[in-house]
Amino acid sequence: MKFKIIIFYLLILFKPLVAQEDQQYYQEPYRPQFHFTPETNWMNDPNGLVFYNGKYHLFYQHYPNDIVWGPMHWGHASSTDLLHWEHHPIALFPDSLGNIFSGSAVIDKNNSAGFGKNAMVAIFTYHNDSLWVKGFRNTESQGIAYSLDEGITWTKYKNNPVLNNSGEQDFRDPKVFWNEEINLWNMVLAVGDRIKIFSSPNLKIWKFESDFKPQNDIKDLGVWECPDLIKLKIDDKEKWIMIINHGNKTPNGGSGTRYFVGNFDGKVFKNDQPSLWLDYGTDFYAGVTFSNAPENKKILISWMSNWQYANSTPQKVWRSAMTLPRELKLNYDGNQYYLSQAKIENFNSITESVNKFNLVNLPFEFQNDFSQKEIKFDNKNTELTIELSNSKREKFLIELNDTSLITDRRISGKINFNENFANTYQSMPLYDSIYNFQIILDRASIEILLNDGKYSMTNIFFPNEKYSMMKIISKCDSKIGILEINKIKRVWPNLKMDE
Ligand code: FRU
Repeated sequence: MKFKIIIFYLLILFKPLVAQEDQQYYQEPYRPQFHFTPETNWMNDPNGLVFYNGKYHLFYQHYPNDIVWGPMHWGHASSTDLLHWEHHPIALFPDSLGNIFSGSAVIDKNNSAGFGKNAMVAIFTYHNDSLWVKGFRNTESQGIAYSLDEGITWTKYKNNPVLNNSGEQDFRDPKVFWNEEINLWNMVLAVGDRIKIFSSPNLKIWKFESDFKPQNDIKDLGVWECPDLIKLKIDDKEKWIMIINHGNKTPNGGSGTRYFVGNFDGKVFKNDQPSLWLDYGTDFYAGVTFSNAPENKKILISWMSNWQYANSTPQKVWRSAMTLPRELKLNYDGNQYYLSQAKIENFNSITESVNKFNLVNLPFEFQNDFSQKEIKFDNKNTELTIELSNSKREKFLIELNDTSLITDRRISGKINFNENFANTYQSMPLYDSIYNFQIILDRASIEILLNDGKYSMTNIFFPNEKYSMMKIISKCDSKIGILEINKIKRVWPNLKMDE
């Protein structure tokens, strides 16, 4: 008998393992198929975006016990191609100094902090809830933690916080980078309605340098959050770009992202033109770039939601998604500098052609499953409507006119979970004619990039049935050129070992 039992267990042990795709994984209603989402529960801002040793690390604001915002942790995932993600255990947990709000991560190549050569160091905001509930308002400070095993396990610095609150209620979201022009670290921090700039030799001692609060600025943009300061080249010039996220009253309501182009000497940032919005949709927030990315590329990821309704969107297992990673480039249009956004180069590795037309007479109708599609076409029309619809007569509309692009999700599907979601259509001003369209559709989102990413609009939606028809209509009797419809492959095949 004993012998039989031993054989039985040996058989179980040495049975060849067969990898099988779990067809149910990431298949819940509205689960994005090629955008990043946590396996379960709440997510908001991308945090600590950093590239190291062949991998992009994405940390994110995460509440692991519910699908609404709660005491913040840093979730963690990594990827070698920015498309396929591997989930890792939670990286940072709340402690006696507070919950872990947004922040950044760097690779300390010279061991300036003394945690070890190439330590991954996270710089984050402590939000102290126990003080907050007692009525204190200046409860935010900055802490650091380090990892010597590529972000898997973390040790908090014993003398945290490294930057104490200077009396302000909103004092958060440190973005840190090594500034080789001054041989110091710089930090940009959102404080009330301004950005504070600091410098440090070692990530532990921070010196205040200056406030950035532009004159004649747009008023009442709500709280300033999640800044970033990056340097980009255009021809032989270098410019610095300050990215700032705003909690309210952005062009299309609620949360949004804008940027200033200017100069920075390690101490003071001066914009040389008014700010521009990075995206005109409703669902593009807390966007920040990767630190240490190959070839010094500036790759940005944003949170694809809006504080107006983020906590009530119709999902049950997890909440919210990230945008696709986008590469930022600096351009000049003869009048001002602007950022363009492009899908990362290897995005094509997950697309497959469905149809390609050299010239299309309008109106044009095409039936297909539009839940995972890329649609690209050249355009000369000044007026155009693209309509995505399903058999329930739910529609998502995109309308181009002489002066703007409008997206309308008022009859797009489930909308009544929040009045700010239900009542809106979004409008983006256009300053030149639109010569190309790029539309990226996942199950519950649309990212529209025009003129090679000069214009960007990102929205989420929740149709009760997949959109299955696309119509392109124009009042001017006209055509569009080279229309490509590509399927976008799912990036979440969870290979389960068969037992
Ligand atoms: C932005 C934000 C940050 C903060 C975090 C808290 O969405 O409000 O300012 O650090 O979310 O989760």
